[in-house]
Amino acid sequence: MKLGVNIDHVATLRQARGTPYPSLPEAVAEAEAGGADGITIHLREDRRHIQDHDLFEIRQAVRVPLNLEMANDPGVLELALRARPDEACLVPERRQELTTEGGLDAAGQYDRLAPTVAALLRAGVRVSLFIEPVPEQIDAARRLGAPMIELHTGRYANLDGAARDAELARLADAAEAAHDAGLQVNAGHGLHYSNLPAFLAAVPHLDTLNIGHGIVARAVFCGLRTAVREMKALLPGEK
Ligand code: PXP
Repeated sequence: MKLGVNIDHVATLRQARGTPYPSLPEAVAEAEAGGADGITIHLREDRRHIQDHDLFEIRQAVRVPLNLEMANDPGVLELALRARPDEACLVPERRQELTTEGGLDAAGQYDRLAPTVAALLRAGVRVSLFIEPVPEQIDAARRLGAPMIELHTGRYANLDGAARDAELARLADAAEAAHDAGLQVNAGHGLHYSNLPAFLAAVPHLDTLNIGHGIVARAVFCGLRTAVREMKALLPGEK
């Protein structure tokens, strides 16, 4: 199982003071040294953390695949087509939100998403859709021609008890359905060292997990390289 390390919050720290540090290319190198299989960044419409120049600098610096999270927005699409990340994950975005809330409505926005998915695929960018674990969204992703989905785990991360178990069952069923539909199954949002084991035990067919906030928060105490290594150690296939 692969780990995509989201380094948005390294940029959050830099933007808090408008300093040139901490360096994002250095964060990329440290995450790679810790075993990151991919680097993920989210160029938000409000540019609250990652900036346009980061996208191009990280594109140059990265040795593992780069995954760009992006809203279905013409300006961001234009930058994505110039930077050519290896992958793009289409996410919903609202300006006031603390972080991405809820999945993309791939079924309801099918007609608006289709040209964006097609343009990215034509440019050689593998496309993922960040969706809720429900059959109609998986079916819309398949019809849009996206080779991958990312299941939104934010709700799981915020629940406990029976409600959490019910959400895990929903995620497991969705992973099964997406796999049967021939889609690569990724997952992310709110995953942490403490909630990852139960998630991994319940949900099949996972290819890549995208994790950011938990890793960067841990890195404050032990460094990014070690924080990534500790997260990797929780994934199947790691010694
Ligand atoms: N995947 C997607 C699509 C996201 O939008 C985010 C947050 O930017 C993440 C994964 C990572 O979430 P977290 O920072 O909570 O680990």
